Amino acid sequence: MSNPSLLILAGDGIGPEVMAETRKVIDWYERNRDIRFDVTEDLVGGCAYDVHGVPLADATMQKAQEVDAVLLGAVGGPKYDALDFSVKPERGLLRLRKEMDLFANLRPAQCFDALADFSSLKREVVAGLDIMIVRELTSGIYFGEPRGITDDNEGGRIGVNTQRYTTSEIRRVARAAFDLAQKRDGRVCSMEKANVMESGILWREEVQWVHDNEYPDIQLSHMYADAGLMQIVRFPKQFDVIVTDNLFGDLLSDAASMLTGSLGMLPSASLGAPMANGRPKALYEPVHGSAPDIAGQGKANPCATILSFAMALRYSFDLGDEAARLENAVEAVLAKGIRTPDLMQAGGGTPATTAQMGDAVIAALEETLG
Ligand code: IPM
Ligand code: MG
Repeated sequence: MSNPSLLILAGDGIGPEVMAETRKVIDWYERNRDIRFDVTEDLVGGCAYDVHGVPLADATMQKAQEVDAVLLGAVGGPKYDALDFSVKPERGLLRLRKEMDLFANLRPAQCFDALADFSSLKREVVAGLDIMIVRELTSGIYFGEPRGITDDNEGGRIGVNTQRYTTSEIRRVARAAFDLAQKRDGRVCSMEKANVMESGILWREEVQWVHDNEYPDIQLSHMYADAGLMQIVRFPKQFDVIVTDNLFGDLLSDAASMLTGSLGMLPSASLGAPMANGRPKALYEPVHGSAPDIAGQGKANPCATILSFAMALRYSFDLGDEAARLENAVEAVLAKGIRTPDLMQAGGGTPATTAQMGDAVIAALEETLG
């Protein structure tokens, strides 16, 4: 059997830096755990635009469709702000999600004990937190038609986007959330705005339908997304799995990142339907963006991308034990106080560079071998 294949798209800003550290981790697994990958690298985002005039070349899209998993860094930067909307770096990422049909975006928010004091919330609110946000990723207002900016013929303009969901789109992401809850604490909270949006009413009804017909043992609750976000910052440990649409999931997951201490800690997995080999179509990426303000300075925290690779080990390659090994290694590094600037308090000593952080994770992995 051939090795599993990985396509690495480091992208823009801090993407290449955090990916370089993740490469060290991948190499470590190849050397020490005999887990070999066929790795190829390509361009996405602004760097792809610079070379191809588009943020994702067709050949790269094709490769992404063929590999077992895509590992992505980040896209975007001020250099590309003036570009036409259709070729903005973000469009490359959205094309990958859409064409690979990665409808279930898993965004775990876990608070490592060593970081509980870095949250903007009190330690007791976040310590030990472990929630999973499942965000619908291929539909909703991100992709709905009609969309665009037109003249209103009275000297003004009209901006339009459409929130649109179908039964099957809601049911499949609901199933992904219920499946996860079955392996966790058995609870799902679904969030929408059924009080103001018809698409929210449909969302609530379809999630309830999947529950009643297929997962009656899971405890299901519903919240309006505004109240849900309030509950996330008030008492986040009440949640196990949260399932929500594309836009609300985007907002909720950025807010939830603050419960963990830093946006630099949050990984994600975007999963689609199973391929012929049984593995799901998959893309793994940190939740943070390209952070152009700190790019190239060795300040970026590589943990979110490294932890995204851990998610790849778990969800694409069925190597849950190896994923846990890597997560424990990251936790051990944090516990030793080795931290990038995003995890330092004022006057907290000399921060580690991106590369030092990666090296520390490798050292911690070495220790797991005994
Ligand atoms: C995310 C990001 C993206 C999104 C951007 C970069 C298009 O914010 O993955 O959360 O809005 O989905
Ligand atoms: Mg976002």
